Amino acid sequence: MTYQAYFVEEAETGVTASWVSKEDTDLPEGDVLIEVAYSSVNYKDALSANGNRGVTREYPHTPGIDAAGRVISSSVDQYSAGDEVVVFGYDLGMNTAGGFGQKIRVPASWVLKKPSGLTLAETMSWGTAGFTAALSIQKLERAGIVPEKGPVLVTGATGGVGSVAVALLSKLGFSVVAVSGKAEQTEWLKSLGAAEVVSRDTVLALKGKAMAKPLYQAAVDTVGGDMVSAIIPQLQPEGAITTCGMIAGVKFEASVFPFILRGVSLLGVDSVEIPRADKQSVLDKAAGPWKLEGLEAMTTEVGQSGLADVLAKVLNGQGTGRYRVNLNKD
Ligand SMILES: NC(=O)c1ccc[n+]([C@@H]2O[C@H](COP(=O)([O-])OP(=O)(O)OC[C@H]3O[C@@H](n4cnc5c(N)ncnc54)[C@H](OP(=O)(O)O)[C@@H]3O)[C@@H](O)[C@H]2O)c1
Repeated sequence: MTYQAYFVEEAETGVTASWVSKEDTDLPEGDVLIEVAYSSVNYKDALSANGNRGVTREYPHTPGIDAAGRVISSSVDQYSAGDEVVVFGYDLGMNTAGGFGQKIRVPASWVLKKPSGLTLAETMSWGTAGFTAALSIQKLERAGIVPEKGPVLVTGATGGVGSVAVALLSKLGFSVVAVSGKAEQTEWLKSLGAAEVVSRDTVLALKGKAMAKPLYQAAVDTVGGDMVSAIIPQLQPEGAITTCGMIAGVKFEASVFPFILRGVSLLGVDSVEIPRADKQSVLDKAAGPWKLEGLEAMTTEVGQSGLADVLAKVLNGQGTGRYRVNLNKD
C-alpha cells in the first residue's frame, strides 16, 4: 500500500525535501503499523529536515519526532487495529522514519494510548515541545517550587516549549516573566498568561556575575548557553532552573556561589529516552488536570504544502507557538 511522506535527500548543493509516494515495505521492521493523522514541528525536526547529522545520521530520511494516529496492525496483544495512539521521542524521526509520513512502523514499547480527554489533533498541539514544557514544570514542582514563593522566568517564550510553559505555569497560578527576542509578541505572550515580558538582553546583562539580585523563584530555560549562566545568579534561595535546549549555545559558565550560598538547583529535562510510563503519565496529565483550553488558539495547523515554510521558520528561531501537521491536508 502506498502513502505520502516528506522525504529529505542529500544533493550536491545540500539537502532537498519533497513529498513522495512510499510503500509499506519501505518502513522499518516493528511491532505496530500506524496510520499517522497528525504530527507536529519541533526544533529538532527543523534540524533533521535540514541535514543535521547530530540528529539524523543517514539520509534519505523522513523526519517527525511526533506522531498521532490509528493502529493499522499490531503483532502484540496490547494494541489492536483502530486504537488511537501517540508516539513521541525515542528514535522516531531521528533515524527511524518519522511522523512526517502518513505511516510509521515502531516498536510497541514506543506507543502510548491516547487519553480520552484529548483528540488526536490536540495531542499534536502539545507534541514533544509541549510535553517538554510539562516535564520541566513537573521537575520544578518536585523541587518545591510553588506559586506563593515568587515569579518564574521562561526563556524562548514565543517558541514551542516556551509558549506552552508560559500558558501552563499561568494556569497553575504562577506569576510568569517571559523572556523573548520578539518585542512585537509582547501582547501575545501576555494573552498566554505572562505577567511581564522582558527582552533577552535584559536577562543576558547579568551573564558572568557570580551573584545578583534574587528576582526569580525559578526558571524554565529552553535556550541554553549564556541564558543559563545569566539566570543562575538571579535565582532566590532554594530556587531552581530547568534546562532542555541549546538553541543559544551548548555551554555555559557559572559560579558555584548560587549553589552553595543559596542552595539553588539545576535540573536537566529529557523528553526523549524517559520510560514509557513517564511519557504516558505526562500525556494523561495534559488530557486531565493540566489540560490547556487555550492551546488550540496557540497552534497553527499546516498541511503537506505548508510544512517546508514552517520548518524554515522554526530553524531560524522565528516560530511562534505550536505548529501541528495535518498529514491528510494538502
Ligand atoms: N530535552 C528535550 O527533551 C527537548 C525537548 C524539546 C525541545 N528541546 C530543545 O528545546 C529548545 C526549544 O525547542 P522549541 O521546540 O521550543 O524550539 P522553537 O519553537 O524553535 O523555539 C525556540 C525559541 O528560542 C528563542 N531563540 C531563538 N534563537 C535564540 C537565541 N540565539 N538566543 C536566545 N533565544 C533564542 C526564540 O524565542 P524568543 O524569540 O521568544 O526568544 C525561539 O522561538 C531546542 O533547543 C530544542 O532542541 C529539548
